[in-house]
Amino acid sequence: MAKRDVFSGTTALVTGASSGLGEEFARELARRHVNLVLTARSHDKLQQLAADLSRVNGVQVQVIAQDLAEPDGALALARELKARNIAVDHLINNAGFGTAGRFETMDVEREARMIRVNCESVTVLSRSLLRGMLDRKRGGILNVASTAGHQPTPFMSTYGATKAFVLSFTLALAEELRGSGVHALALCPGPVPTGFQAAASIPSGAVLSFAKLDASTVVERALDAYARRAVIETPGFVNSVQTLASKVFPRSLVVRAARLTMTKLGRISG
Ligand SMILES: NC(=O)c1ccc[n+]([C@@H]2O[C@H](COP(=O)([O-])OP(=O)(O)OC[C@H]3O[C@@H](n4cnc5c(N)ncnc54)[C@H](OP(=O)(O)O)[C@@H]3O)[C@@H](O)[C@H]2O)c1
Repeated sequence: MAKRDVFSGTTALVTGASSGLGEEFARELARRHVNLVLTARSHDKLQQLAADLSRVNGVQVQVIAQDLAEPDGALALARELKARNIAVDHLINNAGFGTAGRFETMDVEREARMIRVNCESVTVLSRSLLRGMLDRKRGGILNVASTAGHQPTPFMSTYGATKAFVLSFTLALAEELRGSGVHALALCPGPVPTGFQAAASIPSGAVLSFAKLDASTVVERALDAYARRAVIETPGFVNSVQTLASKVFPRSLVVRAARLTMTKLGRISG
């Protein structure tokens, strides 16, 4: 009942909706009777998903293909939403990718594109859509961070830093928004088998099995947490313990443990 009250008949923008967690957000929101705007680069996949969701769930679904790594990509998306007169109640900033390996070997242009998708687009879309939410005194922003945002992540150094940005930004925003009728949630998943691992060139089979959760479980917990206006959600017992440990132990020890996790368990060559 509570699920329908928050979501039913509202509109959500889901970035990175063409696969993994974003596709699952789109499917679960459609089940919760939310009209959708889906965005990513893969236009055909989005069109197929939109057709499925409107047929099965009877919701309205629009598609806007956009590369968020392009300079002004997020601004172009915001302009298109305005041109189509779409009022977004729930912004799901999910699009993102990672890179793995020694920092000095990284492709510098790819690192810059990652920062634009993971950080700049989150900021620009939040700023562009928040004013309307505040005027309507409803809705919110769900930003997908990561357990990697809780501590420096050797061999995924830029990626971990982008997620620390998302986490810090979201927690600050949530506090600013207190009492406004609008809220913000940082989702901090641990390992989830999606297209993420291949995109980051993480060796297959390296997803940490003891911490792993599937995308549908993560998304369901995220939307339930969002509906009860939680500020942060870390799905899974192991991930919660890891997060607690990153706060309790000295930072030097935490970074060393993160290094071992990445190289020994994550099989990333360091
Ligand atoms: N999977 C995990 O273990 C894990 C853990 C913690 C956090 N996360 C976070 O979860 C979020 C979703 O990732 P996922 O695991 O679902 O990975 P995924 O299956 O690879 O999905 C990534 C999504 O982001 C979109 N995207 C990538 N680059 C883009 C660009 N330049 N412009 C627009 N859209 C772009 C992709 O669509 P197109 O390729 O069609 O553009 C795709 O829809 C990311 O923010 C990731 O950092 C994942």
